[in-house]
Amino acid sequence: MRRLKFALRNRLELGDDQDHSPFSRARRFDAPRSPRSPLPICTGGDSMSIADLPSVNACLNGASALFLGAGYVLIRQGRWRAHRGFMLAAFVTSTLFLVCYLTYHGYLAYVLHRGPTRFLEPAWFRPIYLFVLLTHTLLAIVIVPMILVALVRGLRERFDKHRRIARWTWPLWMYVSVTGVLIYFLLYQIFPQRSGPTVSEKSSSQAQLYRRR
Ligand code: HEM
Repeated sequence: MRRLKFALRNRLELGDDQDHSPFSRARRFDAPRSPRSPLPICTGGDSMSIADLPSVNACLNGASALFLGAGYVLIRQGRWRAHRGFMLAAFVTSTLFLVCYLTYHGYLAYVLHRGPTRFLEPAWFRPIYLFVLLTHTLLAIVIVPMILVALVRGLRERFDKHRRIARWTWPLWMYVSVTGVLIYFLLYQIFPQRSGPTVSEKSSSQAQLYRRR
């Protein structure tokens, strides 16, 4: 556990010139060493760490989007049993995503005392990013009860009622899944950002500002 915590803390402390991408395993072997410790920044070679969770989450969101797409095509073809299977698969991947998402952010907040990664650069793209993030987050909350109701109605074979809610649930769920992948690529691959400061870093920079005044 300490090793895991150490690996994540070190990776989160990398500067912007470093590749944060959890996809780039090759880079781990020539990774720089932390000034606080002689150990390499990324321990464990091919083993996973909690810092890999954002890419796992993106994969889970991507899988949900694919299952939703397949489920839709199948119901259009009248194959409702196959539709049921794909919708249940989408439900499983989205639930796993929620568990991994809460684990990652809980770990950042309560173990590492860090805020979530913020999108700062490039500044011109920030409003677009924030729009995507806001709509993604709000709809992710809204769709939870909708998914449960659509699922229960489908499983109980109340298909007329199921269809009424499913017509809204499907596009919103698809939007949330696709924007989940998009947010990952924007934040970690296309415009890699620095991770948020720790509570102590925040308070020391606030103290510095206060002293300067
Ligand atoms: C939350 C999960 C689900 C979502 C989002 C979903 C989505 C949809 C969508 C978009 C439609 C087409 C509605 C239309 O005609 O415009 C549909 C129809 C249908 N779904 Fe689902 N579905 C889900 C789960 C299920 C499950 C578990 C079953 C179980 C068998 C099921 C059975 C059906 C059937 C039979 C139809 C055709 C209803 C009709 O035309 O009268 N669905 N669903």
